Amino acid sequence: MISFPSNILFFYLLLSAFNPYNFIFQVHAYDCEVTLINGSTNQVLTAHCQSNGTDVGTTTLDPAGTGSFLTPVAGDKRSVASCDMTLGNLHGHFDVFDSDIYRSACAVRALSWRVDESGLYVFLDQQWSLKYHW
Ligand SMILES: *[C@@H]1O[C@H](CO)[C@@H](O)[C@H](O)[C@H]1NC(C)=O
Ligand SMILES: *[C@@H]1O[C@H](CO)[C@@H](O)[C@H](O)[C@H]1NC(C)=O
Repeated sequence: MISFPSNILFFYLLLSAFNPYNFIFQVHAYDCEVTLINGSTNQVLTAHCQSNGTDVGTTTLDPAGTGSFLTPVAGDKRSVASCDMTLGNLHGHFDVFDSDIYRSACAVRALSWRVDESGLYVFLDQQWSLKYHW
């Protein structure tokens, strides 16, 4: 029989090894789901996004299209996500997540943007507000 200095410690380590959240909490506290909504009436929105430096690919948002990706939010580490967006002949590069600004907004795990010809609207405090012009 193998003896351990502390059975409690052993069981803690055993549980930790099989707890999927253990790994996640060590890497980052949680993911914020950033959602992009095509708010144009007649144009396709294309977005190519980076989540804190990692390319998350390109999405094309068709009628009533929405697309989303996850970006990490960690205790005191800053995290920024940005997208290159094209809507018809409009083009721009925008930060769609910055933990310094949206950490508390994303405490509910999601942050939504609606994009139309005027620019980018963010959903905060139960309303859409125009945050960026093209
Ligand atoms: C999104 O894009 C398409 C173009 O593919 C457009 O027809 C549609 O009305 C747009 N907007 C919404 C809210 O679906
Ligand atoms: C985001 O990237 C920066 C620069 O690489 C890094 O210092 C920071 O820890 C990252 N943030 C998270 C939440 O991983």
